[in-house]
Amino acid sequence: MKKQLYIKTYGCQMNVYDSGRMADVLAPIGYAPAQAPDSADMVILNTCHIREKASEKVFSELGRLRLLREERKAEGKGDLLIAVAGCVAQAEGEEILARAPYVDIVLGPQAYHKLPEMVAQAERAAAARANGDDTAAGPGRGVLNTDFPEEAKFDFLPAPRAEGPSAFLSIQEGCDKFCTFCVVPYTRGAEYSRPVDAVVAEARGLVEAGVREITLLGQNVNAYHGLDATGTEMGLGDLCRALAEIPGLSRIRYTTSHPRDVDDALIAAHRDLPQMMPFIHLPVQSGSDRILRAMNRGHTRDRYREIVAGLKGSRDDLALSSDFIVGFPGETDKDFRDTMALVEETGFIQAYSFKYSPRPGTPASAMPNQVPEDEKDARLKELQALLQRQQIAFNQDCVGREMDVLLDRVGKHPGQLLGRSPYMQPVHVTAPAEMRNTIARLRIVSAGPNSLGGELVAAADPPHSSERACA
Ligand code: SAH
Ligand code: SF4
Ligand code: F3S
Repeated sequence: MKKQLYIKTYGCQMNVYDSGRMADVLAPIGYAPAQAPDSADMVILNTCHIREKASEKVFSELGRLRLLREERKAEGKGDLLIAVAGCVAQAEGEEILARAPYVDIVLGPQAYHKLPEMVAQAERAAAARANGDDTAAGPGRGVLNTDFPEEAKFDFLPAPRAEGPSAFLSIQEGCDKFCTFCVVPYTRGAEYSRPVDAVVAEARGLVEAGVREITLLGQNVNAYHGLDATGTEMGLGDLCRALAEIPGLSRIRYTTSHPRDVDDALIAAHRDLPQMMPFIHLPVQSGSDRILRAMNRGHTRDRYREIVAGLKGSRDDLALSSDFIVGFPGETDKDFRDTMALVEETGFIQAYSFKYSPRPGTPASAMPNQVPEDEKDARLKELQALLQRQQIAFNQDCVGREMDVLLDRVGKHPGQLLGRSPYMQPVHVTAPAEMRNTIARLRIVSAGPNSLGGELVAAADPPHSSERACA
């Protein structure tokens, strides 16, 4: 009989991609997706360690799963295997097993190809437990794998299945930049780029299965330097060029890019390839040179301005989003004003902003002059108000324009479809159900703070190759 698997995913898109790979690697040993944890035989928490709030969630969720396991046992439904994957597993593997000894499996992001054998081991231990054998691996003896193995997990994981017209594709993982606030270099390990052929083959498979839009993923996606068939390194710009050759692939996106790794080849790809979406997530974190230096970001405010100017020079409809941290240790009101000024000047159509959260083991957590929480709150509020104004202004500016929208979902109202603009804005439109999963030309007729309304101009499938996404 099929067993049921429920995966709860926290954190970034790479975790979303990884959760798919974990489900795929467990299918051959009999696990099928469950709709809810209540009906599952195994639950995997795919965790995020980036800020304190994110990683604390894990322990409360584990407490709930423990109760669920006891309920199942009381109802005679059999055991529930509990696994913790992702960045908290990598950073705090031993601590998880100590604090939550009922956890069966702890595995870090580079060990996902080892999951089937770990599950088999945990199943054997659970069976032994059920037979009253307490010496077998059991509570307090969960299996742990937080290695950074020599081999690349990608070589051992099945290719992803397409689910709808849009897909993620991990091309790069890990980070060598060591920003002083960030845990990622410790949780994901050193930078690794998948070979070009493997990426192109995965993209082809997705497109053959109906995918029209691929988002290339990496912690520093534009640090990509995969080897091609001749053993020569290829950067992200040239990789995008290779992917643009795939017939039927209409949209290419990538995230998250680092300002330091924006090069001429990437700018040229934006200029030359209509498949490149004119929307780039390019986190700056702060507008103060002093803080950028303390963060070890490796660029100044002026350098960021130059990079933005270079990218915007590639096509006139290009727009940006960013991440910001307020209240980094030592941030003064003057530093914060510099951030506000950079936002005013650059104009971001969307953004994520966070209060600095000290993370164990990172240099910034030990820096003097930590900013008081109420100061962080006030700065975050002010910054978010400005970013929100910019987002609303951009949305309103879209009214009257024509855009190609990938209609990937059914809307809330009857006869309505929902899709994404080139700028990732959700757009709703009244359209025939057959238009789902196609790219349609819409005229934008209304704008809210977080979404747009459109009217059908024409089906634009295949896409206009010579036209800009946003006229
Ligand atoms: N590689 C990407 C960011 C990955 S983490 C880059 O270099 O831009 C995603 C975002 O989380 C970061 O951009 C940053 O804004 C935020 N972040 C990371 N560590 C944080 C911390 N300790 N406190 C608050 N926000 C943090
Ligand atoms: Fe973290 Fe900096 Fe690496 Fe981004 S570049 S993942 S913020 S260390
Ligand atoms: Fe979180 Fe790890 Fe992604 S810390 S943001 S899940 S790389």
